[in-house]
Amino acid sequence: YKEIDSFPEDFLWGAASAAYQIEGAWNEDGKGPSIWDEFSKIEGKTFEGTNGEVAVDHYHRYKEDISYMKEMGLKAYRFSVAWSRVIPDGEGEINEKGLDFYENLVDELIKNGIEPVLTLYHWDMPQALQDKYGGWESREVIPAFEKYCEALFLRLRDKVKYWVTMNEQNVFTSLGYRWAAHPPAVTDLKRMYAANHVVNLANATAISLFHQLVPKGLIGPSYGYGPIYPLTADPSDVLAAENAEAFNNDWTLDVYCRGTYPKFVMKQLEHLGIAPQVTAEDSRLLTSATPDFLGINYYHGGTVQQNRIEKPENQSSTEKNFSKTDPYLMQPKEEQAMSPEVPMFNGIENPYLEKTKWGWEIDPVGFRVALRRIQSRYDLPVFVTENGLGAIDVLTEDKKIHDDYRIDYLNEHLVEMKKAIADGVEVIGYCAWSFTDLLSWLNGYKKRYGFVYVDRDEHDEKTLERIPKDSFYWYQQVIKENGENL
Ligand code: BG6
Repeated sequence: YKEIDSFPEDFLWGAASAAYQIEGAWNEDGKGPSIWDEFSKIEGKTFEGTNGEVAVDHYHRYKEDISYMKEMGLKAYRFSVAWSRVIPDGEGEINEKGLDFYENLVDELIKNGIEPVLTLYHWDMPQALQDKYGGWESREVIPAFEKYCEALFLRLRDKVKYWVTMNEQNVFTSLGYRWAAHPPAVTDLKRMYAANHVVNLANATAISLFHQLVPKGLIGPSYGYGPIYPLTADPSDVLAAENAEAFNNDWTLDVYCRGTYPKFVMKQLEHLGIAPQVTAEDSRLLTSATPDFLGINYYHGGTVQQNRIEKPENQSSTEKNFSKTDPYLMQPKEEQAMSPEVPMFNGIENPYLEKTKWGWEIDPVGFRVALRRIQSRYDLPVFVTENGLGAIDVLTEDKKIHDDYRIDYLNEHLVEMKKAIADGVEVIGYCAWSFTDLLSWLNGYKKRYGFVYVDRDEHDEKTLERIPKDSFYWYQQVIKENGENL
C-alpha cells in the first residue's frame, strides 16, 4: 500500500464555527432576531436554557480570536454569516453595519494570511421570514435568500474565494420537521420533504447567481455525511443498507450534484403520499446549478439491518441524543417505528465501534469510506468543512487543558483522510470543528469542541478568557509539517 508523504502544497488546514454559536451581540448594530434567538428562549428547548445572546462574544472579540488563529498557523477559517444581521427582517433593507462586521472580519483574516470560507446559511433563518411565510416551507423565501446572497457576493466577492451555501440541510430539516428538536419544532414528514425541496431550490438559486457574479470563486453546500453499513452479510441487511444510503444520503446529494432526486426514494415517498411537488421548472433549475466542490461534515455513519421492528416496544425513554449525520438511525426503537420508512431499514448499534459520551460512534475508517464513496459517486473536489470531538474538558489550576482524547480523535481521522487522498480522492481542505469552544445547539457549553478553551459555562459568563488547549499546539505542528508526520 502506497501512502503519500504529505498533503498538497496548498492544502487548506482550517477550523470552523457558526454565527449563532459564537457571535453573541444578538440584537446589536441593527441585527434582527433569528429563529434560534426565539426558539432558545422557549423553556425546555435547550440544555439548561442556554441561548446565543452572548455565546462566546466573538462579535466583540474577533480580533483576539484571529490572533490565536495566526499563532496556530491556520490556513483557512470557516464561519457563517447571520442572515438577520445583514437583512434584519430577511427580505427588506440591508443593514450596512451587519455587512461591515463581516467585511472587517474577512479583512482581519486576510491580513493574517488566513483564507476565509464563508457559509451563507447555518440554521439561523430570520424570525420575520418564519413568521410571515413559514420559513423554508414557502417558496417566498427563495427570492429573499437570493437577495441576501447577492448582498454578500457583491460586497465580498473580491476577498472571499470559498463559499458554502447550506450547512447540513439533512440535519436541520430532519431535526426541525421530523423530530421537533430544532425550530420550527414540527413532526410532519410531508412538511419536512416539502421544506427540503424549497431548500434545494434556494441552494441552486444561490449557486446560479454566484456563478454569474463571482466567476473566480468556488461554491458548494456542506452536507452531513455518514456512510451506512449493513449489520451482517445477509443480503437482506445489505439491501437495507442500500435503502438507508438512498434515503439518507443520495436523497440530498443526488440533487446537489446531479439535479435529480433518486427514483427509488421518490417512488416510496409518492406511495406514502409525502413526496415533494417538483415542477419542470424546478428540475431545470436544479440541473443547471451544480456545485464546484462538495463540503462534507463528518462525525460518524450509521448501521442498519433489515426491518425487525414489528410493533413499538415498551422502552423507557432515553435522553434525546440526535446524531448529526443521520438523525433517523440513532433513535430509540419505538420512535423509529413511528417513521413510515421503517420497513426499509432499522438503525442499530454498530458492535465494533466505541462511542463518545454523547453516544456518537467514533469511526475514523468510516471517514475514508465516506470520502471514497463520495468521490466515486459524484467525482467533485471535497472540502471537509467539519470534523471533531465533543468532550468535557477540564481546566487545571495552572490554566491548561490536557485534551489528549481530542488529539487522538483528530489524529486518527487525519490519518484516514491522508489515506483517502492516496486512494485518489481530491480533498482541498479540512476544517476541524471548532476553533474556539462554542455554544452547542442543544448541549450548552459542557460539550466542547474547540482548540481554544473559552472560560464560561451554562450559568455564568465568567471571564470569557481564551486559553489554548494541548490540541491547539498539536494542530499547530501538523499544519507546520503539512501533515507529513501523521
Ligand atoms: C454539526 C453542526 O452538525 O455538528 C454544528 O454543523 C454543530 O453547528 C456540530 O455544533 C456539533 O453538534 P453538537 O450537537 O455536538 O453541538
